[in-house]
Amino acid sequence: MTHSAGQVGPSNPIRIVLIIGTRPEAIKMAPVVHQFRQDQRFSVTLVVTGQHREMLDPFLKIFDLSPDWDLNLMRENQSLAQLSAKALEGLDQVFQQVQPHLVLVQGDTTTAFMGALSAYYRRIAVGHIEAGLRTGDKFQPFPEEINRRLIGAVADLHFAPTRTACDNLLREGIRPHHIFITGNTVVDALLMTLDRLGPPEPTPKRLLLVTAHRRENWGEPLHRIARALRRIAESFPEVQILFPIHKNPIVRQAVAPQLEGRERILVTEPPDYWDFVQWMRSAYLIITDSGGIQEEAPTLGKPVLVLRDKTERPEAVAAGVVKVIGTDEERIVAEVSQLLTDEAAYRRMQRPVNPYGDGKAARRIVQAVGFFFGLNDRPEDFCPPLNAS
Ligand code: UD1
Repeated sequence: MTHSAGQVGPSNPIRIVLIIGTRPEAIKMAPVVHQFRQDQRFSVTLVVTGQHREMLDPFLKIFDLSPDWDLNLMRENQSLAQLSAKALEGLDQVFQQVQPHLVLVQGDTTTAFMGALSAYYRRIAVGHIEAGLRTGDKFQPFPEEINRRLIGAVADLHFAPTRTACDNLLREGIRPHHIFITGNTVVDALLMTLDRLGPPEPTPKRLLLVTAHRRENWGEPLHRIARALRRIAESFPEVQILFPIHKNPIVRQAVAPQLEGRERILVTEPPDYWDFVQWMRSAYLIITDSGGIQEEAPTLGKPVLVLRDKTERPEAVAAGVVKVIGTDEERIVAEVSQLLTDEAAYRRMQRPVNPYGDGKAARRIVQAVGFFFGLNDRPEDFCPPLNAS
């Protein structure tokens, strides 16, 4: 499946565009950008759509990412359609000027989908990082499940983080030689970050770290989550709840008034990645609807309760360290109470496992791109240690 880019060398490198729109894309793209920048066979153009602004910029800084283009697309409370249309057009103009050989997108955001589609319209090859995640339900998560399926339909190179993700792609008819099992770059980013951090601050209380922002939890589910957290804070004096709250005004309005000012509950601004990693390390338990946190916490040995009905990340659930509990108020109270009172149940979920990566995903991705252009061998697949799945 070699894709010719002509005679490649330092004077004629392969032009790669990498696209970032949101906070999780910055985290997961950072190791890939740095890996490509070290390799003279490639010239790298980093494009930021600015789908997020305040939540993106500190992450670009921490990971030392300086964008070559910034489309600055964020507007408060804009619709998915408005954002999509602007991203599609803005990225098309970038591609017209840069004339890349390959466009790399990450995950399942609007930015990633529009990046893939816009590249396809110009017949530019597309590589999808974190390919093959599926819940099988087109509304969960919304709209991410459809975004990633459609990116999968467009992509020429699929970087599946795990064997399960690879199997999902094969079932959809993607040819095996277009798929590379790389591990998830989030583990590369997390290990890079841990290297730079000191030990976490000891916390006198049992810290419950909570995040929730997904569209399918807007409205009543967020209210139920907030009510459950209030009951937990009232029943367990040894607990401290820490809830960094997403910048989206819809999420803020649903959560903040119910939790602010309550004893043992602290609602904060979203922290930068260093602080967030320290909070995860200090946490007794993490309660979240985020996808990335489900991948990070197992490496840190922290139990996770997932505030969703379905997950596209089944590996850590199978390993017994992540549990999908939904958003029913009684169920949240019951599950959290059990992990606060039943030591054996807690210990069972407190094992560090690593089903999502080994810190070498970015290296495999660069090697796979080299292979695609006929420059080197195919990388070895990531294969997690046996205790990890
Ligand atoms: C997006 C992704 C989601 C990812 C999440 C990470 C899509 C469809 N979804 O969802 O998969 O988990 O990012 O956060 O792409 N806002 C600010 N400042 C910021 C960021 C957001 O004010 O720095 C506000 C704006 O009003 C913005 C709104 O939040 O319009 C929602 O942001 P948006 O990118 O539409 O969706 P997310 O819910 O963040």
